[in-house]
Amino acid sequence: MHTAAFSALRMTDCVYEAYAVMPEELKEAVLKAQADGFRGLNLTIPHKEKILESGIVNPDRFAEKVGAVNTLLFENDGIYGFNTDAAGALSALKTAGADPAGKNILIIGAGGAARSISFLFGELGNSVRIINRTAEKAERLAAEIAKKTENRNVSGGDFSTGWEDSAQADIIIQTTELGMGKYEDVSFFDQLERPAGKTKDEMIQARLKDKVVAFDIVYNPWETKFLNDVKKAEKAGAKTLNGVMMLVYQGALAFEIWTGQKPDVAVMEKAVLKGLERKE
Ligand code: ATR
Repeated sequence: MHTAAFSALRMTDCVYEAYAVMPEELKEAVLKAQADGFRGLNLTIPHKEKILESGIVNPDRFAEKVGAVNTLLFENDGIYGFNTDAAGALSALKTAGADPAGKNILIIGAGGAARSISFLFGELGNSVRIINRTAEKAERLAAEIAKKTENRNVSGGDFSTGWEDSAQADIIIQTTELGMGKYEDVSFFDQLERPAGKTKDEMIQARLKDKVVAFDIVYNPWETKFLNDVKKAEKAGAKTLNGVMMLVYQGALAFEIWTGQKPDVAVMEKAVLKGLERKE
C-alpha cells in the first residue's frame, strides 16, 4: 500500500521494504536503518512495546501513555515514536459512518491491539468496557487506562457479563484471535453462557442494540464468525466492519508522518485488497 501511495504521488525515489528482525537485534536494526538513510519505519509484534525499553526513541504523548509505538520518524535531532494503530481504528469507524463520539464502547480482548484502541477511547472520554477470557488482564488494563487518562468510565472483567455488556454497547470492537486460524468457526458470542432454551441468534437479537456497530479488527478471514453472527441476527441498522480500513488508515497516518503528504487512501486500499486476493 505504501508503494502504491508513493507511485500515485510520483515519489519515485521512495521505497517501503520489509525486514525480519529478532527481538535481541531490535535496537541495532533501528539504528542501522537510520544510518542507512531511511526516513522512518513501522514496527510490528513484538517490537512495538520493546522499542521503548531501548531508550533510543522519544514517543509522543499518546504513544508514551499506551506504551507501544508502531511508527518511527528519523530526524536530525532524534528518533520520534508514534502509535497510529488506534487513530487508524478511529478513522475506519468514522469513514464507515460510525462516529464514536459519546458512544459506549465494548472491547473484546485485552492484548496489544485492544490496548491501543482502549487507550484512545479512554482518552476521548468514552465509556469503555473491556472484557477478556482472562479477567485480570482486562481489569489491569482498565485500571491503567482509567488512571492515565483520568476517565472513570473505564472498566474491565471477564466474559461472564458479556450479554449485559453487549446490551449496553453502541460499538463492539473484537480484538481477540477468535475467528482466526484454529478459531475460525468460533465467535465471541459462542463463548457466552445462554439461558436454557435460547438460541445464540435469539440472544444476539435480544441483547444487541438495533444500530450497533460491530467492528472486528481482523481482515483475514474477510468476515469473521463474529461479524457474520451480527449480520445473521438481522439487527435493524446494524453496521459491520472488518479490520481492513484500520490497516489502511494506520498506514496512511504513518505515510503522512514520514512524508508530510496526505496519501490517496483509496489507492492504498486497492493495493491492500489486491495483496489479500493474491494470498488466497
Ligand atoms: P494482539 O496483539 O493481536 O492483541 P495478544 O496480545 O496476544 O494479541 O492478545 C490476544 C488476545 O486474544 C487476548 O485478549 C487473549 O485472551 P487472554 O488474555 O485470555 O489470553 C485473546 N484470545 C486468544 N485466544 C482466545 C480464545 N481461544 N478465546 C478467547 N480469547 C482468546
